[in-house]
Amino acid sequence: MSTAKKEYKRITTKSLVEMKKNGEKIAMLTAYDYTMAKIVDHAGIDIILVGDSASNVMAGHETTLPITLDQMIYHASSVVRAIERCLVLVDLPFGSYQGNSRKALDSAIRIMKESGAHAVKLEGGEEIAESISRILTSGIPVMGHLGLTPQSIYKFGTYTVRAKKEDEAKQLKKDAKLLEKLGCFGLVLEKVPAKLAKEVAESINIPVIGIGAGNGVDGQVLVIHDMLGMTHEFNPRFLRRYLDLYTEMNGAFKSYITDVKSGDFPNEKEQY
Ligand code: KIV
Repeated sequence: MSTAKKEYKRITTKSLVEMKKNGEKIAMLTAYDYTMAKIVDHAGIDIILVGDSASNVMAGHETTLPITLDQMIYHASSVVRAIERCLVLVDLPFGSYQGNSRKALDSAIRIMKESGAHAVKLEGGEEIAESISRILTSGIPVMGHLGLTPQSIYKFGTYTVRAKKEDEAKQLKKDAKLLEKLGCFGLVLEKVPAKLAKEVAESINIPVIGIGAGNGVDGQVLVIHDMLGMTHEFNPRFLRRYLDLYTEMNGAFKSYITDVKSGDFPNEKEQY
């Protein structure tokens, strides 16, 4: 395994597989709007995920289930307009692909055509294999998502770590191999034991991107509002906060309110 870092002008599904081969870790973050995507892309991120977590952090829903295909396309097209280098991956929302491969293909085509994104992500293993295959036959790259799949939260009943028991771990390993065989270019593993995630990453040739899956995988993803410290009441063990934006922004808003109310803003230089 070589550790030499290759410069990529544009990240493609091919470069991501190559990065795994070369032992270069893949950095992925979510973004849902133009301004944030521009900053993230300029910082050198490899993948922006327009996640259905937009349902939580942008729209304030308790789960990812309510977000619609039209809303995902709106977020994705805002992100696509901002980026120059990274790959833009978009979640197919709940209800747009499960149990109907024709519908899955139509949903994926709408995302690609109307937003200009580069790939789609679907949650699940063998139960959605037909949908994944059908999307892939149209030339749309697909990333899988196993482990904690938030669109199934009402089946799980809890957001706790998945695949701790042998039978679920066995099924997850089988699903990961199936996703590779079907032709997925990568896989997200969410909230599974680090040992299992490492084993999965070592058993397949496509990159495995982890969230709460330890350091033995090929890359990491975080929700941008969480890593910036905007969602200060959300404290899972896997989360590393790189800023405390909640406190910073709260302070800025308080100063603005004080300045407006006291008549200090605007001053003479801040007017025409
Ligand atoms: O929607 C999302 O943000 C995701 C990540 C948590 C992987 O799917």
